Amino acid sequence: MLAYSIIEKKQAGKELSKDEIKFFVIGFLEKKIPAYQMSALLMAIYFKGLTEKETASFLDIVINSGKRIKFKKTDKYIVDKHSTGGVGDKISIILAPLLAATGKVKIPMISGRALGHTGGTLDKLESIPGFSTNMNIEQFKKQTNEIGCALIGQTDDICPADRELYALRDVTATVRSIPMICTSILSKKIAEGIEGLVMDVKTGNGAFIQEYNDSLKLAKKLKYFGENYGLKVKAVITDMSQPLGNKIGNWLEIEESLDVLKGNGPVDVKEVTLELAQESLLMENPTRNVNEIKKELNDLINSGAAFEKLKEIAKKQGADISFLDNPQKYKKAKYIQDITAKNTGYLHKVNSMQLGLDAIDLGAGRRTREDKIDPVSGIEIHKRIGDKIDRNDLIFRIHSNDKDAVKNIARKIESRLELLEETIAKKKLIVEKI
Ligand code: URA
Repeated sequence: MLAYSIIEKKQAGKELSKDEIKFFVIGFLEKKIPAYQMSALLMAIYFKGLTEKETASFLDIVINSGKRIKFKKTDKYIVDKHSTGGVGDKISIILAPLLAATGKVKIPMISGRALGHTGGTLDKLESIPGFSTNMNIEQFKKQTNEIGCALIGQTDDICPADRELYALRDVTATVRSIPMICTSILSKKIAEGIEGLVMDVKTGNGAFIQEYNDSLKLAKKLKYFGENYGLKVKAVITDMSQPLGNKIGNWLEIEESLDVLKGNGPVDVKEVTLELAQESLLMENPTRNVNEIKKELNDLINSGAAFEKLKEIAKKQGADISFLDNPQKYKKAKYIQDITAKNTGYLHKVNSMQLGLDAIDLGAGRRTREDKIDPVSGIEIHKRIGDKIDRNDLIFRIHSNDKDAVKNIARKIESRLELLEETIAKKKLIVEKI
């Protein structure tokens, strides 16, 4: 088989056979096919899509590029949550310990690194000093069985093909493809050995898939292919027309997650977390009363049990948990600049994707696969769509160790900022559940 001919075939919009996809994906994983040819195929898929049959083949090949974890049938339901990716999305960091703290479910969570304009759960966790997201399958299972949750990334054992493809999609502008997002997410989740999956499907200008109808299509595909593998899947479509919460950036998002786990933090982050946690617990026991679940979750936050669970997980994974107790002892960025309102009005629109890209320029993400992330850089957002803003109100705060980047990004953000006289309704966060 020739890689060149397969690229040409997809470029012409023709259906690839399972053997052709396998030749390409496994060839790339085994370094027989170079990244430039894989990138060309990814770009062809980006424009031409994958048929249902191709998507099923792709998914199967990526899952089988590694091992599939099997948990012993226990008394506890095995569930996980994953997001299709947004800006400021730190839900997993709060939800995983919160669910584990219920003692009713186990959460073996395999997450990704920053992708495109979005941050990654792994990069955020690794901004906690000492936190390791590397584990072999036996350690991963052991920790999940012992304390209810482990938070790791793909390994050589679990979906290595997704790890390599994910890193390449990240730097080749090929992430925004419904079948690629679907196979990337489901491969990891199926390989994890879970029984139930709650999907947070983002819609709006900070999501990879921005149009509502496309988000719905993605949600349905995730459900269809996930259920084909025997998973229970619930998809919750949530608004991403502005970043989630008030902070974008790795350590900044850990700080905000700690706030929520300590009973404070932004209401939108808490609302989405509780909704997804509630759906996870309903999978465990569909007959439960929703208000009773909500109360249980709120109690676990207010009593400190969810925060203690995060500390337990972090300690097991090598972290210095004194930073979780005292986040203020973390070093700050060298340069911090405020952007305040020059006039009065209502905030109608936030360019969330651009803010995600600005955060990368500040050092919070990678421009190339080899780049190192600066954990303290990022952006705080102090106003939300629909807020009334007065002159001199703080709207954004920019953090970075790169002085020029701060100046540059501050100028860009300021020039995009538009306040209008008319009021605008607040956005509904939970758009639909399927
Ligand atoms: N999350 C993933 O794991 N993969 C994607 O492609 C998008 C979000």
